[in-house]
Amino acid sequence: MYHAVSTDDLNRPLIERLIQMAETFRTTPRHILRARLQGTLVATLFYEPSTRTRLSFEAAVTRLGGNIVGAENARENSSAKKGESLADVFRVVGAYADAIVIRHQDEKEMALALPYSPVPIINAGAGSGEHPTQSLLDIYTLWKEFGEVDGLSVCMVGDLRFGRTVHSLLRVLSFFQGIQVTLVSPPELALDDLLLEEIKGRGLSVETKERLDDVIGEVDVIYQTRIQRERLPAEIHLSYATEDYRISAQTLERLPSRSRILHPLPRVNEIDPDVDTDERAAYFRQVQNGLFIRMALLDEILGGVLR
Ligand code: CP
Repeated sequence: MYHAVSTDDLNRPLIERLIQMAETFRTTPRHILRARLQGTLVATLFYEPSTRTRLSFEAAVTRLGGNIVGAENARENSSAKKGESLADVFRVVGAYADAIVIRHQDEKEMALALPYSPVPIINAGAGSGEHPTQSLLDIYTLWKEFGEVDGLSVCMVGDLRFGRTVHSLLRVLSFFQGIQVTLVSPPELALDDLLLEEIKGRGLSVETKERLDDVIGEVDVIYQTRIQRERLPAEIHLSYATEDYRISAQTLERLPSRSRILHPLPRVNEIDPDVDTDERAAYFRQVQNGLFIRMALLDEILGGVLR
């Protein structure tokens, strides 16, 4: 593996290998982990806000013995403010670091700049396009919670139009067998038709429902998402009943006991905090899985630099 820019860079055997590596790293003593990427330097460039992705990547590099340089709020605090192109940024930062982890507001600009990078690029979220490493931790979480991913019924709820984690997870789910997908969103935030056709073409069985209540009793997984208000074009005015898409203690009464609730986080008000202590709420376990699967990904990519 070289870049991890899109889910096209992933495949089922690679994901299964990363999951096994993540499981090993989970129980490996820290002093042994620290030897794996000793001497490497990773740059983190975040042009959009992040808590989990940036800090879990930085924690992952550090736990594996590597070093970090970074620009947070890079739209303001880097030479992007002076008009420097992303292609030039990749050339420059690639002269210092062994890999670049980047979150950027424009997925097209990231794709155009990619050929100019002399080092591996890891996409930490690009506009409303993709977030491939989030899909890795989502799949890892499904595997840990259910023991396998094949055959699961997954209900995606919320902002399916602008939510990049949804786009990546749908594509990665298509690597598995017998997946049933149900899409539940306000009409204005429905999945883009092109992506809908793409995932159907990849073999996913997809249906659409108007309200979460219509499917709650029959799904294995609810993948809840936040409305990406910062990405809404001015011409879209949302008018929907919050309760049709919100998970509360009442929702849990009808959710099967084996089902699980995932959320890429951050959440705003789409999951009531009362739900957090229920065993079916997997979203904080999902966060920790992100650390170990990102360690596995970094080891996969940077191990090649060292070995
Ligand atoms: N899930 C996710 O991408 O979270 P952050 O925006 O905090 O990185």
